[in-house]
This record gives sequence, C-alpha cells and structure tokens, in this order.
Amino acid sequence: MDSTDNGHFSMNGGDGPLSYVKNSSYQRGALEAAKAIIEEEIAAKLEISTNSFCVADFGCSTGSNSFPAMHAIVEAVKRKYESSSLKTPEFFVCFNDLVSNDFNTLLSSLPPDRSYKAAAVVGDFHGRLLLLSSVHFAYSSWALHWLTEVPKAAEGLKSVWHGGEERQEAYDAYLGQFERDMESFLKCRAVEMVEGGIMALLIPSLPAYWDPKKEYTVGSLADLLRSSLLDMAEKGRLSKTKTEIFNIPYNAPIPEELRPILQKSNSFSIERMETLKSETLLNVEGQVAFFRAVHQNMLTYEFGAETIEETFDLLKKKLEASPVYADPSNDRTLVVVAILKRNNV
Ligand SMILES: C[S@@+](CC[C@H](N)C(=O)[O-])C[C@H]1O[C@@H](n2cnc3c(N)ncnc32)[C@H](O)[C@@H]1O
Repeated sequence: MDSTDNGHFSMNGGDGPLSYVKNSSYQRGALEAAKAIIEEEIAAKLEISTNSFCVADFGCSTGSNSFPAMHAIVEAVKRKYESSSLKTPEFFVCFNDLVSNDFNTLLSSLPPDRSYKAAAVVGDFHGRLLLLSSVHFAYSSWALHWLTEVPKAAEGLKSVWHGGEERQEAYDAYLGQFERDMESFLKCRAVEMVEGGIMALLIPSLPAYWDPKKEYTVGSLADLLRSSLLDMAEKGRLSKTKTEIFNIPYNAPIPEELRPILQKSNSFSIERMETLKSETLLNVEGQVAFFRAVHQNMLTYEFGAETIEETFDLLKKKLEASPVYADPSNDRTLVVVAILKRNNV
C-alpha cells in the first residue's frame, strides 16, 4: 500500500465458504482498554430490571479471548445491580460461532469458576440466532470484518495489489458488502435484544493514512501475503490466473466510514465510539503465526495444503527483509469500540 491509500485492505475475489475463518491472538491487543470502556458504559447506561440476564458473544471462536470478555461484562453488570435497589439476576452466556468452529474446545475449557450458565449457539450471525427480545448484552470482537461473500462487483477483478483503475472499484465493492453485512447483523440483533439492551462491537480498522516506509498495518501485512502468493505463481507453484484474481472476504473500514454505517440502524443509538491502537506487539514470528492461523484454512481450500509451508516461508522472508516489521511499535492497526443501545422505536 502506498501513502496515498485511504487505508483499506479490502481483498476481492475467491468465494470460499465462511468455514475457513479462524481465530488468532492479534485481537488481544486492545482488549484491556476496550474492557474499561465497556465497564464504564454498563455502569452509566444499563437500566434493565430482569431475573435472568443474557449476554451473547457473536463470533466467539474457541473462547480464549471470549472468556475474559464475558467475565468482565458479567462482573460489571453485577456491580451495576449491586449498586441499585434491584436484585442481582442469574446470568446466561450464549457463545456463538459458525458450525466449523471448534465448540468442543470452547465447551471443555469454560472457566470452572464462572458465575453464568453457558450455551453454544451455532450459525451465521448475519441471520437470526436467538429468541425474540431475549438478549440484554450483545458483544462481538474481531468478527464483523469477515464478509458473507466476496462482493459480486469485485469478483474477477484483479486483486488490489495490482493497483490501477480497478482498485477504487474493488474498494467500493468491499465497503458496500461490509455495509450490507452490518445491516443484516444489526437487523437480527434488533429483534433479539430487549429495549435498553447494550451492544459492544470491537471492529478492526485502518487509519486513513499511514507512512508505509516507516509503519505497517494488518492491511499491509495482508498485501505482503498476497505478494507471497504471486511469487508462488511466478515460481509455477500456483496457477497464475487463479492467484491474480484470488480475493479474501474481509474488510476493515477506516473509523470515519463506520459511524454512518452504524447510524443507519433506527433500532440502535450510538452511545460511544472510540478508536484504539490495536497494541498487538507481535514480532515477525508472531505476525507470521497470526497470519497463518487466520488464513491457512482458506488458502488450503483455494490452493491446496502442499502450498502452505512455502507461502508462509515467503511471507516470513518478506517481513524479515523490511526493517519496518521488526519493530511492533510501527503497527498502526486500529480497533473501533462501538457501544450501541437498543432503543424503543
Ligand atoms: C478472529 S476470530 C475472533 C474471535 C474472538 N471474538 C476474539 O475476539 O478473539 C473471528 C471469529 O468470528 C467467527 N465468525 C466470522 N464470521 C462469522 C459469522 N458470519 N457468524 C458467526 N461467526 C463468525 C469466526 O468463525 C471466528 O471464530
């Protein structure tokens, strides 16, 4: 990406199923700061009288990041009830992810000292998953950037690393798909949440501008992965045609693009929106491990398992060849924390 980029790393093409979406440790970075924001908002804004309080995590993966988040939310809600005249309710946490998720790991590693009942809710969060007016707090972290599909308008376009006039077209198509997916997510949650319910969304985001000579983002890392794939094609290890139009269904918006998308929903009001540095502090090994965890299933599906080792070796060499990636403080990836409230329209 060059300095004139508006920061997207939308990647177009390839219509593989959502089943290859994977978890990683990259999203742990800003969790503490996000937790503080969520706790403050619960203390200030939650006003629900109920005997049974339901929290749902949409895109929970195998739980390593979800458990601390659910603990923080439940404890903050308890404190809120304890500070009022209302009786503290019982808690129920619904852990949602796609059918391909490893729910065995999730359910067998539930914290033994948890103060909530737990259930797994399987399915795509762009559709209805839970009962009408049953959720009091909805949470989703590092999951909403995955799109339901590569946008039709970007299918067959060369991937954005080729530059050229197709670039803006692909960018717009990705943003449009992200907007449509957010809309269906919010529509379904509006039905499932009670009035006054709170939603916390942590969405990876990119700055509008950064200096690629001195800085990087998860987007420029993705560009290097794509350039590793192209090198593989040059070596004859992957099909050139397939590689050139290979695109990935995720999109991280710039923070300014997110607010109007969220504002479009009449069912929620935006209570607070903060942009945090992702603070991942990964070294080169960590970055390669993160990218491999996230993309391995997808690349195996597209190009075959035998190409994975070599592709990620190439990525590692590219990262090692650039002084920018050696210092994790050069990472400019952002996370937007959005706190929404289900209104009573
Ligand atoms: C990068 S992981 C994030 C996991 C966890 N929330 C965290 O903060 O570490 C993204 C998760 O979202 C899930 N996911 C992506 N799209 C989804 C969808 N449409 N419906 C349900 N889960 C989805 C993936 O399967 C994956 O487990």
